[in-house]
Amino acid sequence: KLPSTIAPHLLAWYDANARDLPWRAPPGAPPTDPYRVWLSEIMLQQTQVATVKPYFAKFTARWPDFASLAAADEGELMAAWAGLGYYARARNMIACARQVSAEHDGALPATEAELRKLSGIGDYTAAAIAAIAFGERAVVVDANVERVVTRLAALEKPLPSAKPDIRALADTITPDARAGDFAQAMMDLGATICTAGAPKCLLCPLRADCAGHATGDPERYPRKQPK
Ligand code: ADE
Repeated sequence: KLPSTIAPHLLAWYDANARDLPWRAPPGAPPTDPYRVWLSEIMLQQTQVATVKPYFAKFTARWPDFASLAAADEGELMAAWAGLGYYARARNMIACARQVSAEHDGALPATEAELRKLSGIGDYTAAAIAAIAFGERAVVVDANVERVVTRLAALEKPLPSAKPDIRALADTITPDARAGDFAQAMMDLGATICTAGAPKCLLCPLRADCAGHATGDPERYPRKQPK
């Protein structure tokens, strides 16, 4: 069982230290346009934040909403995508924009379950959009969150068999309010402090809550199954 102090400690840290990213509302501000949340999460699926930034600016300027993207010329979109890789994402994006326009009156559905039915939206992306754009208490788990949670719990069970346990632990620490900020705070913590190598535990807002830190060897986690 993880300490109930994790969410308040992490959200207080996020309020002071959130990364300023173009698809993000500042902590406490009204949520960003769901289109922008969706576009950023698709781009971030296999691509680093720093690489995504200029593409996000280019795409939102050229295709500012689902209607314009649904009508996009596929060749022009593919050319604009060049350099991001994983081109299936770009094709799925047009398909998704057309679904949203044809089946949802041009607005993304607001629940994780409905989002999951759209082209290019898997479990992670559905949860991330539901939490960040709509404030749903969705449990958002990516590789950063897996690392943070396994360290917090000093979880000895290895990946990938520990995935259901990690999800259950993440569920127990996800707050009812500010689930989107909480999810993005976990990602920021994993990207900047609870890094795979040389984690910066001295700067970590969750140091006192962390069983991995208490062992003296947080880098032991996540454990990995031998291939
Ligand atoms: N990686 C994927 N989505 C992200 C987000 N919303 N904030 C930071 N890193 C992310």
